Amino acid sequence: MLLQIPQVITADQAARFRARISAARWVDGAVTSGHQAAQVKYNEQLPEESAEAREIGGQILSALQRSPLFFSAALPKQVYPPLFNRYTGGMNFGSHVDGAIRVHPPTGARIRADLSATLFLTAPEDYEGGELLVEDTYGTHLVKLAAGDMVLYPAASLHRVTPVTRGARVGSFFWIQSMVRDDGQRALLFDLDMAIVRMTKDHAGHPGLVSLTGCYHNLLRMWAEA
Ligand code: NI
Repeated sequence: MLLQIPQVITADQAARFRARISAARWVDGAVTSGHQAAQVKYNEQLPEESAEAREIGGQILSALQRSPLFFSAALPKQVYPPLFNRYTGGMNFGSHVDGAIRVHPPTGARIRADLSATLFLTAPEDYEGGELLVEDTYGTHLVKLAAGDMVLYPAASLHRVTPVTRGARVGSFFWIQSMVRDDGQRALLFDLDMAIVRMTKDHAGHPGLVSLTGCYHNLLRMWAEA
């Protein structure tokens, strides 16, 4: 499942975050990649231990905690501390699949990457290219979102970032270990949850809602590792 989550942070916040991290020291993006990905990765990143990455990353994690849509879609067990990348002057990231197990060097924390997330920090009109292309069984999806919007997609999918030929594309990216490992099961729970939310709005008090809510929680109980 590929899902766009609008306005995880506001466009103003995105501009502030961008200004703060732009002043930081950037390094070659290959530092956090496995062997295959490193060979096709041409971008810059903030070092994971940098003060700016920790500070802005913490604010992104707080914003995620306020997003019911993120919770429902990701059912997060653990979120990797957000990283930051920048593409300018033709930089790009060729086809790859994200590594399955991520170790966060500063803390030693280890998570299984079930979902990948990209939070866009630059407005799309401020750069040319830089589309995120994600492949799934339905074909290739092109993702280029407003500043403050985020996309969630299965970490197992093949994806790439096309060359940035004008301006700079700054974004935050990270991985999520979900309480529900299987993408299909997680997508089903998300659909059910969204249907319950819609019915609660339009038919509050309908007795069927009690059953559907029960089904949701009992499926979650069956599939989740809390
Ligand atoms: Ni990737």
